[in-house]
Amino acid sequence: MKQILKKLKLNHLQYQNNQLFIENVNVSALAKKHGTPLYVYSEHAFLNPLKELQKALQPLSYTICFAMKSNSNLQILKLLKKNGCGIDTVSGGELFRCEKAKIPGKDIVLSGVGKSESELKYALNYRDTGIRSINVESEGELELLQKIAKKEKKKVKIALRFNPNINAKTHPYLSTGLKKEKFGLDKNEILNLTKKWHQFPDLELQGLSIHIGSQIFEMKPLKDAFLETKNFLLQLKERGFPIKMVDLGGGLGVKYDASNNKEKVMSIPEYGKVICSIFKNMGKDFHVCIEPGRTLSGNAGILLTKVLYEKKRGGKSFLIIDGSMSELIRPALYQAHHEIIPAILQGTKTQNTDVVGPVCESGDFLALDRDFPKSRPNDVLAVLSAGAYGMTMSSHYNTRPKPAEILVSKNKSKVIRKRETYEDLIKGE
Ligand code: LLP
Repeated sequence: MKQILKKLKLNHLQYQNNQLFIENVNVSALAKKHGTPLYVYSEHAFLNPLKELQKALQPLSYTICFAMKSNSNLQILKLLKKNGCGIDTVSGGELFRCEKAKIPGKDIVLSGVGKSESELKYALNYRDTGIRSINVESEGELELLQKIAKKEKKKVKIALRFNPNINAKTHPYLSTGLKKEKFGLDKNEILNLTKKWHQFPDLELQGLSIHIGSQIFEMKPLKDAFLETKNFLLQLKERGFPIKMVDLGGGLGVKYDASNNKEKVMSIPEYGKVICSIFKNMGKDFHVCIEPGRTLSGNAGILLTKVLYEKKRGGKSFLIIDGSMSELIRPALYQAHHEIIPAILQGTKTQNTDVVGPVCESGDFLALDRDFPKSRPNDVLAVLSAGAYGMTMSSHYNTRPKPAEILVSKNKSKVIRKRETYEDLIKGE
């Protein structure tokens, strides 16, 4: 178990006298006080990669826009804001969260293949100033945005989302930069649009955005996409567009599976170097945005759950826990691997185990066929690397209230979202 923490480089988690701590807080105590299932985040683990990214991009004029789809808790947004981070949004709801966290418009970008009229209007009027960039993904969206801009008498800063047709070599559900996928506009589509730009007098084309996928482990596809985007930007500049920014998306993979050697995480300094070397000579007013999600949030969170029952059948054990696909859908949806470790180490005996939830689906598992330490009812387990796309993708399936969320900083912990009640579940019905 200690080996797992070491291999995943989760420095904010460690066993002290066989008890698991997140920063300086005992996770068993948190489970006891707040109940399970329970999301717990480490402030330190959020800020560490942020600082690394900030350092790596120092030579440029840049904004790091955290992809809040990976974790949208208001206190997390405030924490990141306080530490110099902007936000990447994808919906009106996410813009609303930004407004509540008092994120300035200049630090926000809006992406998304299907923004509605009211969402575009929201972005355009966000705190009166609008936002840094609306990343437009289709001709229809451009036309609608022009119509809104004219009506609202506003000039709107936009980027076009470029689909470079580059394979990010990730899970097919997480790839977004191939022509066959719904995202962005290909080169010809963009060139054709620029020919009729007089139809969009209130839209200022300031650059391009890309995002070729998520959970990427190879630098090459990212580098290829960045280079292609730069060349395309220069071409657009030659055509007279006031090019002054690029948004490079997110996508860096994090290590989830301690024994999978293919999950080799890219170094942030290396990633920064590639970006700086490609974009450094674009002029001193040129601005680079990146949209890391998982890079900041992935390792920062754990999901604490409690063993309810153990069932044995044919040499195999099922640990039935109180966490499920409703709280963490990644294993069910992407066959994603999450390491699971006990909150208290007791003995070294392991057995082949499926760790499954109470939801009425065979896909409701958090781990299959694991060699797992023998556990008993009431034991607390920590599902690791659950900070990204955990709580934000949780659902009420089987009418399960959403878990509470806790933020830990050194030896302090605070509730940053209350556990839902049954009454919360029927609000509005
Ligand atoms: N920018 C855009 C436009 C995106 O669509 C995404 C993620 C990001 C940035 C952040 O990507 P990241 O740095 O986190 O890889 N639910 C999946 C991941 C879906 C990612 C969607 N887009 C999962 O649990 O693995």
